[in-house]
Amino acid sequence: MKFKKNILCIGAGYVGGPTMAVIAAKCPDCKVTVVDINAERIRAWGTDQLPIFEPGLLAVVREARGRNLFFSTDIAAGIREADIIFVSVNTPTKTFGHGAGMASDLQYWEKTAHEIVAHSDRAKIIVEKSTLPVRTAEAMERILQENKKGIPFEVISNPEFLAEGSAVRDLLEPDRVLIGSRQTETGLRAAREIVDIFASWVAAERIITTNLWSAELSKLVANAFLAQRISSINAVSALCEKTGADVGEISFAVGSDSRIGRRFLNASIGFGGSCFKKDILNLVYISRSYGLNEVADYWEAVVRMNEYQQERFVQTIIREMFHTVVGKKIAMLGFAFKADTGDTRESPGIHVARKLLEEQAVLAITDPQALDNARRDLAGLAGAVEFEPDPYRAAADAQALAVVTEWEAFKKLDYEKIFASMRKPAFVFDGRNILDHRKLFEIGFNVFPLGKPSLTHFA
Ligand code: NAD
Ligand code: UGA
Repeated sequence: MKFKKNILCIGAGYVGGPTMAVIAAKCPDCKVTVVDINAERIRAWGTDQLPIFEPGLLAVVREARGRNLFFSTDIAAGIREADIIFVSVNTPTKTFGHGAGMASDLQYWEKTAHEIVAHSDRAKIIVEKSTLPVRTAEAMERILQENKKGIPFEVISNPEFLAEGSAVRDLLEPDRVLIGSRQTETGLRAAREIVDIFASWVAAERIITTNLWSAELSKLVANAFLAQRISSINAVSALCEKTGADVGEISFAVGSDSRIGRRFLNASIGFGGSCFKKDILNLVYISRSYGLNEVADYWEAVVRMNEYQQERFVQTIIREMFHTVVGKKIAMLGFAFKADTGDTRESPGIHVARKLLEEQAVLAITDPQALDNARRDLAGLAGAVEFEPDPYRAAADAQALAVVTEWEAFKKLDYEKIFASMRKPAFVFDGRNILDHRKLFEIGFNVFPLGKPSLTHFA
């Protein structure tokens, strides 16, 4: 079959895989190929055990796979064939050299730019899907223009706003699709080609076109705003614990103002995930590099508050368990950075586990999807950790439950049965405020919610 367009995506991760599966499902007249250097990932995309857990994803992949959706490790062939190339490689925080711990590590991204130059023999549109520092497109253009073949490339920024756990819904019904381009004739023409892809299923008024720099920067700013809301409510949760106010009631009261809105006001043990911290630190780094120190400090405080909140959770556990957790079994309910994903990148669970192990607690970690990643994250740490798929077995003989992830399944556990199997006094530290605290207290637990009065049986 002759396809209208050949679309390639370099990078078959949490973004590249789902995004391309949805494009393929919605644009059957386009051939969509996803390539990656990670052969194991590519192999898994060809099976029903997809390399990432994402509700609803398998059905979308199955609809298009083998029809107009293909996964391959042949990057050179993919580039040669493509009219449009999405670049969706990882852009983690740099861990070395100048800007370590703050700036984006652009080595994977730059490698793809050179590969595109090496294997192209005709004009192509290159779409930045990865989250990148503002003005990265300029560097991309420079590398691409270095080709000796005189091939014109147009660079577009199309940042992705999907959240893990709801990726398929976010892609099928996005709040908006953002497409930034050079405001030249060729730039605007390239932008229209990308608009046409999304217009197959996204309403025209939800497709926003801007200049390149606005698109790149909007992505960092969107994540910074979302994370800032969480740090704001988490800061308030600490104040609630001192004053007897209830952070849930405050979220509701404050969020009822339609100018503020209800979403992203759930107090937690802190935000995790591969992007919030990385993207804010990137914003901080960029601001400082332009000499905007006050701007940098402002955003950096969002990350500092998040670290404080994670640490506060650990300190509450230690303090309330009589200032020592040595040899005490603590069952961690959840390890993923949020529910409905197996992803543990930057999960607060990592910090909590590490700190509790340092304090010589005995950990039993249970999570419906994230135990393999948890095992990898904690490999090499000294101490006793058990990875237990069954929450009841994880809780047996434990002295405390620590809720790390807001999985629905944890709300439905039989806490009477769990209480009976635990050592006494038994504690619950609910880092997500998902459990019925009053009921747990009545069962016999000493309950420490976040940002709400504790419920204890101690005189
Ligand atoms: P990921 O690590 O899951 O996937 C990136 C993939 O790129 C990996 O499989 C890696 O092997 C591959 N890769 C790296 N270099 C390559 C090369 N030279 N050639 C071919 N493949 C290569 O990362 P992700 O979570 O999908 O994130 C990708 C980008 O999207 C990042 O910039 C991230 O900030 C952004 N983003 C992520 C999310 C999310 O929810 N994870 C959401 C929005 C935006
Ligand atoms: C986030 C953004 O929501 C996406 O729009 C963005 O595309 C993505 O980052 C990215 O750039 O990678 P994601 O990290 O997958 O998506 O998940 P979120 O739902 O945003 O949750 C992030 C963290 O904040 C989680 O740890 C979650 O538990 C926490 N959170 C969220 C709270 O603590 N409280 C809330 O009210 C909401």
